[in-house]
Amino acid sequence: MHKTVRKVLRAVADYDPDYFDMYADQAEAMFARLYVERILRHASAAGIRPPASLLEAGCQAGRLVVPFAKAGFRVTGIDTSGFALRRAREHAKAAGVEAAFVQGDLLTVLRRRPASQFDLVVCAEVVYLSPQHRQMLEALAAAVRPGGLLCVSHRPKMYYLLEALRQYDGASAAEVLRRGEGPFRDSAYYNWQTQDELRALYRSLGLRCIALHPIDRLAWLGQVDVKRLSQAQRAQWVQWELELPDEAAGGFARYLLVVAQRPAAAHT
Ligand SMILES: C[S@@+](CC[C@H](N)C(=O)[O-])C[C@H]1O[C@@H](n2cnc3c(N)ncnc32)[C@H](O)[C@@H]1O
Repeated sequence: MHKTVRKVLRAVADYDPDYFDMYADQAEAMFARLYVERILRHASAAGIRPPASLLEAGCQAGRLVVPFAKAGFRVTGIDTSGFALRRAREHAKAAGVEAAFVQGDLLTVLRRRPASQFDLVVCAEVVYLSPQHRQMLEALAAAVRPGGLLCVSHRPKMYYLLEALRQYDGASAAEVLRRGEGPFRDSAYYNWQTQDELRALYRSLGLRCIALHPIDRLAWLGQVDVKRLSQAQRAQWVQWELELPDEAAGGFARYLLVVAQRPAAAHT
C-alpha cells in the first residue's frame, strides 16, 4: 500500500493493515525474550529489582514494554509514532499491565526533562537507524541514574558485511568495512560498529561497559524462518542462544546488546 494512503488511513481510521506490529509478530516476540532475559539478569546482578523504574526509548508496539511491566517494573515508553503507542497501550491493557507512554522524539523528550532519571534505560533496534546516534546515546546515558544500567542494541559491522556478501555485492561489503555509517544497498542510512568500537564508544560516554551480548545468531546465520518453529522449538532456541558463549560466531549476529553502567555517585 502507498505510504500516503497508509498515513491517511492511520490518521482518519486509526487503521493500517500493513503495520508491522513487533509485539504481535511471533518471531519478534521470540527475540524480545533474548533482550528481556539478558537485561533482567544484569538488573538483578546490579541490585535493580521491581518496582524499579525503566525507560524504553523507541518502544513501538510495546514488545519490550509489556514483558518488563509484567515483571513488575514501572515502565515508561517513548516513541515518535502515535500509531505505535496506541498499539502499545492496547497490548499493555490486554496483558493486564500498566505503563506510561510519551509521544515524541526521544532526544526532545529527554532534553525537556533533564532531571528525570531511571534505574534502567533500554533502547532496542533504534539507534542504528539515526545519523544522530551519538546525541541519542548521550541523552540516554544522562537519563540513567548513578549506578543504573543503560542497555542499547546496535548493528554489528559483521551483520552488514554478511548481508552484502550474501547478495554477491562486493562493492557494498568493501564500503561496510571502510565506513561506520551511511547508505547501505537500497537504504539511505544506517550505522554499524565493531565490538571494540562499541566498548570505546561507551567509555567515551563515561559508562562502564559490562557486557556485549549478541542478539539472534542461530536464526539469522542459519537463515531459519523462526515462524516455522513450534512454540516449544522457539523456547528451545531462546535457551540455546542464551547458553552459547557471547564470543561464539565472532561478532556475527543481527544485533549486539550493550549493557553499560553509569558509575555510582561518589560519596563526600
Ligand atoms: C524497530 S522499532 C523498535 C521497537 C522496540 N524498541 C522493540 O525492540 O520492540 C523502532 C521504533 O523506534 C521509534 N523511533 C525511531 N527513532 C525515534 C526517536 N528519535 N525517538 C523516539 N522513537 C523513535 C520508531 O517510531 C519505531 O517505533
